[in-house]
Amino acid sequence: MKTTCLTALALLAAFPGGALAETAFPPEKVARGEYLVKTSACHDCHTPFKMGESGPEWDMERMLSGHPESEVITEGAALSGPWAAASSYTNTAWSGPWGVSFTANLTPDPETGVLRDYTEEQFVLAMRTGRHLGQGRPILPPMPWPVYGQMTDEDLGAIYAYLRQIPPVRNKVPEPLPPAAPAN
Ligand code: HEC
Repeated sequence: MKTTCLTALALLAAFPGGALAETAFPPEKVARGEYLVKTSACHDCHTPFKMGESGPEWDMERMLSGHPESEVITEGAALSGPWAAASSYTNTAWSGPWGVSFTANLTPDPETGVLRDYTEEQFVLAMRTGRHLGQGRPILPPMPWPVYGQMTDEDLGAIYAYLRQIPPVRNKVPEPLPPAAPAN
């Protein structure tokens, strides 16, 4: 018994961001994260829509897995008049003056999930700074990081904890497309 505990501790020390640590979040923290994810619109953009009986609805088999890799988009929407932005049928690709952005795979898939490289601290920092890992490329619209960045460290940490233990979905989200050159 004692040996098992020591072994587990040694493994946690050896792999601080690894799978073992991810299952170690307290259940209350995970429950708080689930509540925040459900009430802060994450599903609206990160869970692809499918057509249901009364219109578009979330496809929960692909919960929070971002823009589906099968939906290939190669150019932005052609907009004119007062229109500034458009979203795809799945609500996961967004076209606007910033180019085309594709919502990230928030599931813990080890190869395609965006949070695979993130610690909890980096997640908090990313929401505060609007940068990948808190220091990389800018996180594009319409990701509302200026809104979520105002949550407490505790709430953002709870969101991270919840996202690290939802069902993994393998889905490689494409890189964003740059804005089209202005027509002349
Ligand atoms: C209005 C749509 C929208 C909503 C609502 C939204 N997101 Fe996003 N999110 C996006 C888009 C689009 C991207 C991709 C941006 C890019 O590629 O730069 C993104 C990217 C991300 C990323 C990846 C950042 C990185 O490192 O590149 C994370 C993490 C994330 N969102 C978490 C969340 C969480 C958690 C919520 C709910 C609390 C949420 N999002 C709600 C649209 C949204």
